[in-house]
Amino acid sequence: MTILKTKQPAFHITGEKGWINDPNGLIFFKGKYHVFYQHNPYDVQWGPMHWGHVVSEDLTHWEYLPYALTPCDEFDSFGCFSGSAIEYDGKLWLLYTGVVENQGGETFRQLQCLAESEDGITFKKHGVVIGEDKLPAEYEPWNFRDPKVWRYNDYFWCVVAAKKRDGRGRILLFKSKDLFDWEFVSDLLNKDSDGTMIECPDLNQELGYMLSCEQFQPKEEGHFNVHTSRWHIGKLDYESGEFKEKTRGTMDYGFDFYAPQTIAGANVVIGWLNMWDRTIPSAKYGFTGMLTVPRKVEVKGDRLYQTPIVKTKSGVEKIVDRLLEDNVKKGVITIKAKGLTDFSLKFREKGENYTELCLENNKWVFNRSRSGEEIKGVETDSDSLNGIRRMPCSKSEEKTLTIVMDEFSVEIFEDGNVLSSTIYPPEDATKLTLSVKADHCVYLVEEVE
Ligand code: FRU
Repeated sequence: MTILKTKQPAFHITGEKGWINDPNGLIFFKGKYHVFYQHNPYDVQWGPMHWGHVVSEDLTHWEYLPYALTPCDEFDSFGCFSGSAIEYDGKLWLLYTGVVENQGGETFRQLQCLAESEDGITFKKHGVVIGEDKLPAEYEPWNFRDPKVWRYNDYFWCVVAAKKRDGRGRILLFKSKDLFDWEFVSDLLNKDSDGTMIECPDLNQELGYMLSCEQFQPKEEGHFNVHTSRWHIGKLDYESGEFKEKTRGTMDYGFDFYAPQTIAGANVVIGWLNMWDRTIPSAKYGFTGMLTVPRKVEVKGDRLYQTPIVKTKSGVEKIVDRLLEDNVKKGVITIKAKGLTDFSLKFREKGENYTELCLENNKWVFNRSRSGEEIKGVETDSDSLNGIRRMPCSKSEEKTLTIVMDEFSVEIFEDGNVLSSTIYPPEDATKLTLSVKADHCVYLVEEVE
């Protein structure tokens, strides 16, 4: 791999060099937030998965630590795949998927492995704790990954993504007294996923939601990406082992979002701000992939609400009388409007290049077709081919739009919904033009601290 130049986002986590995907092991431990992530330090493509590691005290400024896990043992020699963290007995424990390659001509095996740390920096591996012997025979042992662990009533519990032989994705529940000896409890939803496989299940019993990702999801209203992430409102019934789902919805309406995980013990979620099967123009700078800003999550009625967490310096509000022009590249923009009937925002503009957000038929319409460098995906519907994504707009009289902008990304929040996408504009594309028709509208830019 040649690292030509490093042009990193200002406040989004990347691997500094090489490839990253899913956030893993999110936890607050000994005064710091720990974020691990799927990482190939040797190339800008997916490859041998390590666990990269950063820590932060404020969820905005991140410090790099040595790799927490490297794929170097007989139980994870093909890769240390996704997993989660828990604090127990004053130590930090990681439950992750060790992947091993063809043995005796058979296909891969995915095994749930355990590692522990006293200081949260150096980890000692304990090897496989949920092996093929614990997986009921009707599931494929080569599609069994991404354990998410928590503690309840003297037991450790974990949900793991699985696949029925000749079937589709499932989410399995296991329990253990000591993190080492696990037993199978149930198939949580007891039905096949729509997509071909489920990945990265995440359960938050306290708030009452589960997150899941589906690969090769059939097209349906509200899901535009072939691989999609969902929230499911509901609770696990520990007696029956059933997840009682009330409603489900889309985690993110943008092009680039996958594999969200909740920080253990905090109602905060971080996702991968990229998507499988897309080209990533930052490869030429020596890095590919980044994580979203942390999002506070709440369950209100039958919906999941997400709002960004970014530490900013205070800015000065301006009243928008029809048209406003500014220069912004990075930061958090808040637009509050009352009685909004018309909205158009062009940002990161220079010459032919700009990114656009408009309001059409009560939907926010995001367009990155002229943002800058081309990003190719596998979706073939006309919106995708035209660089468009749509997100519902709240029906309330007063709307608050929050836009988090960094070097190569934009995350748009309104009414608890989010639309996240990468963009690769020219470095000096900073012009912003806002045009509104509203009874009252204010605009605020805050720099990130
Ligand atoms: C999700 C995923 C996980 C797996 C990891 C491998 O994006 O496919 O299921 O553990 O990435 O890097």
